[in-house]
Parts: sequence; C-alpha cells; structure tokens
Amino acid sequence: MSLSLWQNCRLATLQSSLHQPYGLIDDAAMVVDGPGLIWVGARRDLPAALAPSHAPRHDLQGALVTPGLIDCHTHLVYGGTRANEFEQRLQGVSYEAIAKAGGGIRSTVAATRAASSDTLLHRASARARCLMREGVTTLEIKSGYGLSLEHERRCLQVARSLGQQLPLGVRTTFLGAHALPSEFEGRADDYIDAVCAWLATLAGEGLVDAVDVFCERIAFSLAQTRRVFEAARALGLPVKLHAEQLSDQGGAALAAQFGALSCDHLEYLSDDGVRAMARSGSVAVLLPGAFYFLRETRLPPIDALRQHGVPMALASDHNPGSSPVLSLLLMLNMACTLFRFTPEEALRAVTVNGARALGLTDRGTLAAGQRADFVVWALDHPNELSYWIGRNPCQTVVVAGQAVPPGPITD
Ligand code: NIG
Ligand code: FE
Repeated sequence: MSLSLWQNCRLATLQSSLHQPYGLIDDAAMVVDGPGLIWVGARRDLPAALAPSHAPRHDLQGALVTPGLIDCHTHLVYGGTRANEFEQRLQGVSYEAIAKAGGGIRSTVAATRAASSDTLLHRASARARCLMREGVTTLEIKSGYGLSLEHERRCLQVARSLGQQLPLGVRTTFLGAHALPSEFEGRADDYIDAVCAWLATLAGEGLVDAVDVFCERIAFSLAQTRRVFEAARALGLPVKLHAEQLSDQGGAALAAQFGALSCDHLEYLSDDGVRAMARSGSVAVLLPGAFYFLRETRLPPIDALRQHGVPMALASDHNPGSSPVLSLLLMLNMACTLFRFTPEEALRAVTVNGARALGLTDRGTLAAGQRADFVVWALDHPNELSYWIGRNPCQTVVVAGQAVPPGPITD
C-alpha cells in the first residue's frame, strides 16, 4: 500500500446518500492508495489503521475539495480559427447561412486537413492545458473536422496522444457525421455508408470510445442518424447525439431508442423528447457557451428536464465555430445566469453527470472506490465555483492519486 492522507478540508463529495447539499463534509479527510480513494469522511471517524505515521499527510488548511471536473463535450482537435466568421455573424449573417455558403464546419475541415499532426497536437494540448488549469481532469474529445478515413484517424490519434502526454483522462468520440465534406456533395447517403465503414475500421484500431452525429437540417437527417447508430450498436459502441440545437428534428427521441449516453445542446427539445430521454436515462448535456456565442435566445427546456428527472450535465463544447470556450468554470456561471441552474446543479453537471454522460462509473464523486481525481480550491463554499468570473481559484489538481506538477498545465 502507498497511502497518503489529505486532511483539514471541506469536501463537496457530491454523494447523494449523505443527504447534504453538495454532499458536504466539514473537517474532512481522504485516504488515497495508489490511483484510488480508499476512504472519505469526517476526520474524527478516520480509522487509525488508515493513517499510519509514515504516510504523507497534506494539511489543506480548511480549503474546499471537489471531484476533478469533467468536460464531457469538446471538439478540441482542429486547425485554424473562425474569428472571421464571428465578425460576419456580428454583422448579421447567421451561423446557418455561413454553413450553407461553404464556411462553418467545412472551413475548419480544410484547415484541419492542411495542418500537420504535430501542429494539431500542439494546439490541442495548449487548449487542454487551459481547461486543466481550472480543474478539468477528464475530457471528451470528438473527431469531426477530418471527414475522411485518414483525417478522422489522425484527429482521434491526436486525442489519444493527449491522454498519454498529459495527466488527464481522455475519452474519444467518433463524429464522422458532423458535416458533408465537399467531395460527397449531393451524396449524403453515400457519405453515411463511408462513415459506417470508417467507424468499423477506427473502432478496430481502438480509437473510438463512443459515436456521435450532428442531426440537423444543415447536417444529417434522422434516417441517416439511425444508420450510424445501427453501425455503432453492431460494434457494441455507445452513442451520443448533437440534437435539437437549431431546430426540432426528433433526434433526442431516436437517440433514446438506442440508449444514448447523452443528447447534447437541446434548445429545441420537445416534451416528447424530454420524456424519451427520461425513459432511456440519457443525460442532457447543455452547452451555455454555444448558446451565448451564437446569441441563441431559445432556452433548453430546463424545467421539464428537471421535472422528469433527466440528469443534466454542462460542457464547454469547445470548437472554433460556435463555442471557442476554454473555461469550464465560466460555463457554471453562465448555466446559472442564462439557464437558471442552481450552483449545486452546475457542480453536479461537471462531476457526477459529466461522468455519466461519458459512461464512466469510476469518477465524478469523492467516495471510497473512486479514482483519486480531485481539485483543491482556494474557496470557502462550492457555490463560489459558479460565482466568480475571471478568477481561477484552483490550487492543486490530483489525477489518479498524483498531484499534477505546475509544468504540465502551464504553457
Ligand atoms: O457542437 N453543432 C455542431 N457542432 C459544433 C459546432 C461546429 C462548428 O461550428 O465548427 C457544436 O456546436
Ligand atoms: Fe458540439
């Protein structure tokens, strides 16, 4: 056993069974053994056998500790930026009009294909480190800016390399059905055939943890989405969906039929969609960065999701077109101000529910048996995580039991 003791802290465990807001435990202690937590509780209850005198002790001087934050929806690997389109949109051109005119996702596809793998890795690593500095310990990364077998593979390989090079858990999602590449113009169904074939190849190479589709009038239809989901099911891979972001396509209900881990965006989600998600247990991943940056005015149906007990997660949706966001804490604040989340819902959304949206059961709370991924904050109360804007109160990040040295998360 290689025990270490973290004590004199206030834990926001997010354990519902404690029946405390945030699962709070004051004057708490945690015992870490290797990569995992083996004991979490009030310091006075700590068994002496778990606190041998030779074990290193970390006195946190009353600081707040939360589980490591989980950003469960990003498109982190891409070339170029789209600041020019931001300017166009500010002058009144819509996101959809830009996409229809061949800009949007397609312009990032061109820049991504033109970039070397080293450049893609270097840029994605810098972005990942921005998120990590604010306590992110697990990150999902979608492909979807390659749109050919070779380029989708490269993006997924870059995502896997990030997980190897950085003290960070990385989950990859294949999003070949993100947009129609120009070489398939007018042949969307043929493209979906190709996407299904690539999926089998890339899954065979161990590059795919989940499968996503952009189901939208500017992207792929419900029938096309179903075909990709069937291919995923045949390979035993879980699915997720970019659903009802710009219009109600009934995507969430379809995804629910396939037991989707999550449906994401959801501004135009109908009542039927909410009910279908509640039945399937899919997580609603809400993305206030994209809502804000696209100057969307239609709110996702938060009250209905709450009433039906659909778990809600939050993510950065980091991408160059609709959400150039590199602060997950800012998403907590925006979810409270724009979506009327409570600060507790916001923290659950980037811990417990973020883990669930990725199908991960070994993280998201502070409890014995979980991975020792946690963050020490220079804060008194967890509601401050949603409160401050532009301040980074993150003091120490621990991933799989190891404190992350400052080097890997500074540039
Ligand atoms: O999640 N909605 C589709 N995909 C991204 C945006 C992609 C882009 O504009 O490059 C999103 O918002
Ligand atoms: Fe997205």
